[in-house]
Amino acid sequence: MRINPSILSADFANLERDLLAITNADSAHIDVMDNHFVPNLTIGLPVVKRIQQVSPIPLDVHLMITNVDSEAPKYADLGVDSITFHLEASENPRLTIARLKEMGTKVAIAIKPQTPIEAAFPYLAELDMLLIMTVEPGFGGQKLIEETLNKIPIAAREISRIGKPITLQVDGGVTKDNISKIASLGADCAVAGSSVFGSGDPALNIATLRNAALVQNS
Ligand code: DX5
Ligand code: ZN
Repeated sequence: MRINPSILSADFANLERDLLAITNADSAHIDVMDNHFVPNLTIGLPVVKRIQQVSPIPLDVHLMITNVDSEAPKYADLGVDSITFHLEASENPRLTIARLKEMGTKVAIAIKPQTPIEAAFPYLAELDMLLIMTVEPGFGGQKLIEETLNKIPIAAREISRIGKPITLQVDGGVTKDNISKIASLGADCAVAGSSVFGSGDPALNIATLRNAALVQNS
C-alpha cells in the first residue's frame, strides 16, 4: 500500500520541516482548496511552487477548486508529479486530462462521496489514478464514510478489466484501524493526514499504516 501523507494536517508554518519528516512516504499529498468548490481555503500556486522546490518526495496535488479546466495546467507547469481534479468541477474532463498528460504530469480524477463510481469510468483508461473520496472534501480529521468503501471493489474490477496500471487511491479518514480493510477491498494508495501528522513521529506513523495494511482483514 502506498502512503501519501496529506500536508493539510502538517504545520503550515513549518512545511519544509514536515516534508523532511516524511521522506519514507511515496508522495506528499497537497490539498488545494479555493473556498468555492469546498468550504475551506488552503494554499494556491505560489505556495505549491515553493513546496515543489523543497520537497524531497514527489507531489500528489489534489485540486478541490472550481474552474479546474483552466487552473489545473498551471499546477502541471510547476512540474509536480501528479494532479487530481474533481469530476464534479470539470466541464470538459477529457480535454483537461489530455492537456495535463501533454505537459508530462500524471493525471487523476477524484469523485465525492455522493458521486457514483461509474461516472468516472468513461475516463478511466486515460488516467494514471482514480481517487475515491471517503469523506466530504474540505477538511482533515473527519471520520471515514463507511458506504464509500463499496466503490473500491467496483473500481478495482473495472481497472483490472481495462488492464492498465491505474492506481486506486482513497482519501479521508484513513487510520491504522481501517487501512487493512481498504487494502483488502483493492485500493493500493492511501492518503493520510491526521493519522500521519496528528501525533507522534510522522515517519513512524507511515510505517505503522503500511504494516497495518498488510494484515489480513477478516
Ligand atoms: C480532505 C482532503 C484530505 C484530508 C485527509 O478534503 O482531501 O486529503 O487532508 O485528512 P485525514 O486523513 O485527516 O482525513
Ligand atoms: Zn486530499
